[in-house]
Amino acid sequence: MPKAELHCHLEGTASPPLVRRQAARYGVDIATLLDGDRYRWHDFASFLRAYGAASALFRTEEDYAELAETYLASIAGSGAIYAEFFISPDHAEAAGLSPGAYAAAVAEGIRSAEAEHGIVARLIVVGVRHLGVESVERAARFAAGMPPLVTGFGLAGDEGAGDPADFARAFAIARDAGLGLTAHAGEFRGADAIRRTLDALQPSRLGHGVRAVEDPDLVRRIAAVGIVLEVCPGSNLALGVYPSPDAHPLPRLRTSGCRVTLNSDDPPFFGTTLAGEYVLARDAMDFSDADLLAATRTAIEAAFVDEATRRDLL
Ligand code: ADE
Ligand code: ZN
Repeated sequence: MPKAELHCHLEGTASPPLVRRQAARYGVDIATLLDGDRYRWHDFASFLRAYGAASALFRTEEDYAELAETYLASIAGSGAIYAEFFISPDHAEAAGLSPGAYAAAVAEGIRSAEAEHGIVARLIVVGVRHLGVESVERAARFAAGMPPLVTGFGLAGDEGAGDPADFARAFAIARDAGLGLTAHAGEFRGADAIRRTLDALQPSRLGHGVRAVEDPDLVRRIAAVGIVLEVCPGSNLALGVYPSPDAHPLPRLRTSGCRVTLNSDDPPFFGTTLAGEYVLARDAMDFSDADLLAATRTAIEAAFVDEATRRDLL
């Protein structure tokens, strides 16, 4: 089954064994970060802290190139032909690396993975909304400078921080530079937050977006306009957005005509993989093999790539 994903955070792909190795390399005590081979967190705020602590163990260009290549090699091994993932200049700077050096190193990891495993990948620079409007605008200006393989701009972090309209200027900077646009919305907030995100930021895709299901008018709008949902079922289950696969709205969104894709978000944090998301959709969310293939196809149709690359992938 060919697979593709549009929603994965680079630092969120770091496995516990890799994090242990990095901690040993830099002499950092990570006793509170890991419990055996699992990350320790219990809610979204503690997840973000664990994510920040793991990110801080990647400090050099070599660290980031290896992290990107390791993630891409792993999903290529389970059938992925394309991936878009988020990079965060704020996390790199916090770890002591300039955004330019960070993006160039990650692009190098992408090139190695393509040469070695045939997988194609592109980068989406994200602003972290709980770091504030100025920081998100700085991320947008960085993205607009078009570092290598950066084709998109997005908004991540705590959905409760600020109003979507606060980030309109950042999105205008990215849009004017010709970047594709996506925003996390409808993960922890409901339909109103999604509507405001669509109105204020005009992204072509939504990170998660699943809580649109709470408002039938909004579901109709998303289907009619063709907004693509980057659905991350394993993440939603791990973070308690939904209590069980039965309660997850992905089947309803799909059969209501929304364009859906399957994504891993922060795979080792949430005990998932891209292949695992496809299995979950098939075994617990009514996806036939044709529906899974359609999700892959939708991801490639909605990818932030040039048309020649898209044609090659389709
Ligand atoms: N950053 C990393 N993972 C995230 C998620 N699931 N939601 C928002 N921001 C994130
Ligand atoms: Zn995410």
